[in-house]
Amino acid sequence: MQFDCFEGDLLSLETDLIAFGAYTDSAWVDGTGLNALNTALDGLLKTVADEEGFEGKDGQKVTLHTHGRVGPKRIILFGLGTSGDMDARTLAARTTRLARSSGLTHVSVVNPNGADDAGPFMVEGALLGHYSFDRWKTEGVKESKLTHVQLVNAAVSNANIQSMVRRIDGVTLARDLVNEPPVVATPSYLADQARQIAKENNLECIILGRKELEEKKMKLLLAVSAGSCEEPFLIHLTYRPEGADENTPSVAVVGKGLTFDAGGLCLKPPGSMGDMKLDMAGGAAVLGMMKAIDAVKPNLVVHALVPTSENLLGEAAYKPGDVITGYAGKTVEIVNTDAEGRLILADALAYAVEQGVDEIIDLATLTGAICVALGNESAGVFGNNDELRDEVVASAKQAGETVWAMPLDKRLKKQLKSNIADMTNCGERWGGAITAALFLSEFVGDVDWVHIDIAGPSFAAKDRDLTRKGGTGFAITTLLSYLERADDRLN
Ligand code: BES
Ligand code: MN
Ligand code: ZN
Repeated sequence: MQFDCFEGDLLSLETDLIAFGAYTDSAWVDGTGLNALNTALDGLLKTVADEEGFEGKDGQKVTLHTHGRVGPKRIILFGLGTSGDMDARTLAARTTRLARSSGLTHVSVVNPNGADDAGPFMVEGALLGHYSFDRWKTEGVKESKLTHVQLVNAAVSNANIQSMVRRIDGVTLARDLVNEPPVVATPSYLADQARQIAKENNLECIILGRKELEEKKMKLLLAVSAGSCEEPFLIHLTYRPEGADENTPSVAVVGKGLTFDAGGLCLKPPGSMGDMKLDMAGGAAVLGMMKAIDAVKPNLVVHALVPTSENLLGEAAYKPGDVITGYAGKTVEIVNTDAEGRLILADALAYAVEQGVDEIIDLATLTGAICVALGNESAGVFGNNDELRDEVVASAKQAGETVWAMPLDKRLKKQLKSNIADMTNCGERWGGAITAALFLSEFVGDVDWVHIDIAGPSFAAKDRDLTRKGGTGFAITTLLSYLERADDRLN
């Protein structure tokens, strides 16, 4: 997809479609060139909009085919409701979605509220809205014909466009990885993807398989994988900036790569299991971030870690009552085999600590409880350092994603007390996202650490403006903003 910018007379603009946004408090806007088009069409656009009861409400739209009377072949008005920061992104996403389904090649999107920084977000929206996962459909798929997206009244440099395209390539990869069925996206598939990303981006790549995990005594990861025939892995990619030395700050980003969560012997009911291919969304986000890291090129050493496994119930499956000694040396009594994410993360976090990093961020589809707390659009962030936690919130805000700070309430730690081991792997129902975070906090030593529970926003139950039903690629742009800011903060 090619992008360019345009400012000037819209009457003679050659394009298949020009899209405008409209608001409820000013459905018939201007400052955007809409009135000039309407006038050139003898007011037809406004007449049609009025006849169709168009008020600029979110989700409303009006389309007019212009039959050669002006340059744009169609004009479309998208209702955006009340004005907000991300309108330009939303509008671009709706436009490219429509372009795909209508077989258009050239579309133009008008910056709806004239925001100065809209350009990169319009590129983002155009790319995200255009996404579709069709690999497994053998019928009825129309290839997209869209080749050109023009941004009207939004300035964006070529470098900024390229940077956004790279970032969204990372998001797209993560969406694909989550959307692939679990029979395809297995732990070894993720390992292969990691090798490829490493090759393309000149990253160091270490992949620990069963043998190495046994040698290293990563027994929590091994325990979770024991009920499956698929080999587990700890994927470790490292980005080193040019000229890095021992003084270069370093961070680790760890993502849960559970490629299918049946719950283990504590089997999930069918209704909760259907979407559990999503349980590697954290790992997919980490891989997507590494694919896109050249868009940021931070002066930081970045360790990307993905513990990956299935959680099934084969004959060797780990059991409630088992006590397992993790890589950190702490013992865990298993009380629920469905609380497996924290176990594979525990070993990966201990390994991250061993890398001597300054900060650790982990991402995981860890608990249903966080969805109860926050719904499906936002992630919850926990941490052992409030400033770093708020830094992640700010990174998300910069990227136009939502994460909310959650409390790491130490009073709930007693829920994880075990009779015979250092801790159990699961507390009571109430505060389930917090006790999961508290469990993880046991494995990060005194390194500054933030945990992002992405169980809600990483998978969409329905199509939305920026994403289709399925994997969303949530958190990648937040992570890239975090790296940008960490570069400034730590250097
Ligand atoms: N992968 C799930 C969490 C999850 C639930 C992600 C819904 C996305 C949507 C996790 O492994 C899990 O099963 N968590 C349990 C924890 C419980 C056993 C303490 C849960 O949330 O029910
Ligand atoms: Mn589970
Ligand atoms: Zn899980």
